[in-house]
Amino acid sequence: MATVNLGGKDYEVDENSEKDLMHQLKEQGAEIVAACNGAGICQTCAIKVNSGELTEKTETETMMDLPEGQRLSCQCHAKSDLDIELIY
Ligand code: FES
Repeated sequence: MATVNLGGKDYEVDENSEKDLMHQLKEQGAEIVAACNGAGICQTCAIKVNSGELTEKTETETMMDLPEGQRLSCQCHAKSDLDIELIY
């Protein structure tokens, strides 16, 4: 398990879950906008990663050319404890 600090609140996520980071956080009440529900299209689930390690960027994220330090929370999993912020 990894601890994710999002907006000053801690959430516990499973690094080995089939569910992506966004879905695991939303299940615990995090208010992440996910207009495409994880299809990797809308970018409303984007996060800024202040610290910690995530799985490698997916092809979808690479094609989107996100700004440095940003990821799509529906396209990744935690690999360590994280400190993140929502972009939207
Ligand atoms: S929820 Fe739409 S890109 Fe992540």
